[in-house]
Amino acid sequence: MDKFVIRGGRPLRGTVKISGAKNASLALMPATLLASGKYELRNTPDLRDVSTMARLLQTMGVTLERNGDSLLVNTFRVNKFEAPYEHVKKMRASIYVLGPLIARYGRAKVSLPGGCAWGPRPVDLHLEGLRKLGAKIELERGYIIAKARHLKGARISFKISSVGATGNILMAAVLAKGTTRIENAAVEPEITNLAEFLVSMGAKIDGIGTNVLEVEGSDALHLANIDTIPDRIEAGTMLVAAALCGGKIKIEQCNPLHLSAVIARLEDAGAKIKTGETSIEIQAPKEIKPVDVSTAIYPGFPTDMQAQWIALMTVAKGSSTVTDTIYFDRFNHVPELVRLGADIEMNENMAVIRGVKKLKGAKVMSTDLRASAALIVAALRAQGETEVLRVYHLDRGYEAIEKKLQGLGAEIRREKGEEF
Ligand code: EPZ
Repeated sequence: MDKFVIRGGRPLRGTVKISGAKNASLALMPATLLASGKYELRNTPDLRDVSTMARLLQTMGVTLERNGDSLLVNTFRVNKFEAPYEHVKKMRASIYVLGPLIARYGRAKVSLPGGCAWGPRPVDLHLEGLRKLGAKIELERGYIIAKARHLKGARISFKISSVGATGNILMAAVLAKGTTRIENAAVEPEITNLAEFLVSMGAKIDGIGTNVLEVEGSDALHLANIDTIPDRIEAGTMLVAAALCGGKIKIEQCNPLHLSAVIARLEDAGAKIKTGETSIEIQAPKEIKPVDVSTAIYPGFPTDMQAQWIALMTVAKGSSTVTDTIYFDRFNHVPELVRLGADIEMNENMAVIRGVKKLKGAKVMSTDLRASAALIVAALRAQGETEVLRVYHLDRGYEAIEKKLQGLGAEIRREKGEEF
């Protein structure tokens, strides 16, 4: 298991290019199951999670090959309709194959996702929605067994906003007979990217970008190509790293409109930010001002930036609170940040952070993707050397992050870690 060895205390300077959005790719890839054909998914990031999804699709008969930034996908020979436990336990997003398989092939056997590093993550909204569309869903020995002669349009009103459930139901509805109305749909940019892809495949979807989607089912869709949107969480993570370490960086190939809440909070913390069409420049603040944050669904402050924000607040001039309203227990990074000298107390789903003068390097352990990102940015600020263990978590969602940070002047290297 690799580790990162980081020598902190240096400001970041220079330019970095943002990769395609992991959470868009993980929906776009299974969407190709909806029609036989050869697809080009452009700007697909080269990540562990993308490889996991590719391997899962390969077990179904899909062929995929990377061509530079594009992923070429061929769905002419899909002959298996299962997502086994060994895949789903590695990545919850595997559940995204459920909707397309039922819609196109009328059957699916998909393992229930286990919990994840920070607790249970149910899929009840996915199953309720599919049942409303006429699928017969049974749970058997940890598997979802789904059957549907054909899906029929329905009105589905989600009791809470869910990115995954919106994506799954949308991918099922586009081949259902009749109209489907999805209310309280997620409006994250990754869902908009998926909806645009489905429309380019011939689907009829109204309300894209809003929380009410109207889908007119089609008998069949056809192949299409798509540009994956930039990864707003990678972009946000780089901005926080710059604000924390000092210096001035420019991030390119990003979409500032997807980051308005993060940019606003960084300006509250004293950063100077200039945005272009596809770029953001940030001048770090002399002194980081404490800024309270509460995560929310898009376009609010993303839960996927919560850990990184806590890292920034550890050296703010004063106290702040960070509350996660989406995942109440997504705080495994807190005890590890405390090992670096942070002063943080937990109060249910709220972290109370008292700014300290400095962080000091130590050995810390990654526990999940965004927790690892928080440890990396904190280590870049900490005095002395930090070892961040188990960085395979980071490789799930950040493409070549050590190279990108080295390009900004960070002292970070990857080393073979001890096997646990
Ligand atoms: C997506 O997960 C993202 N993953 C997550 O990013 C992100 O944190 C999350 O959305 C919230 O923005 C991908 O897109 C692959 P949800 P998802 O369904 O779809 C509850 C990262 O770091 N819920 O929007 O699983 C759920 O427990 C990852 O890149 C139900 O109760 O999230 C949560 O409290 C981590 N029942 C809330 O809804 C359901 O059936 C939002 O979850 C589904 C969800």
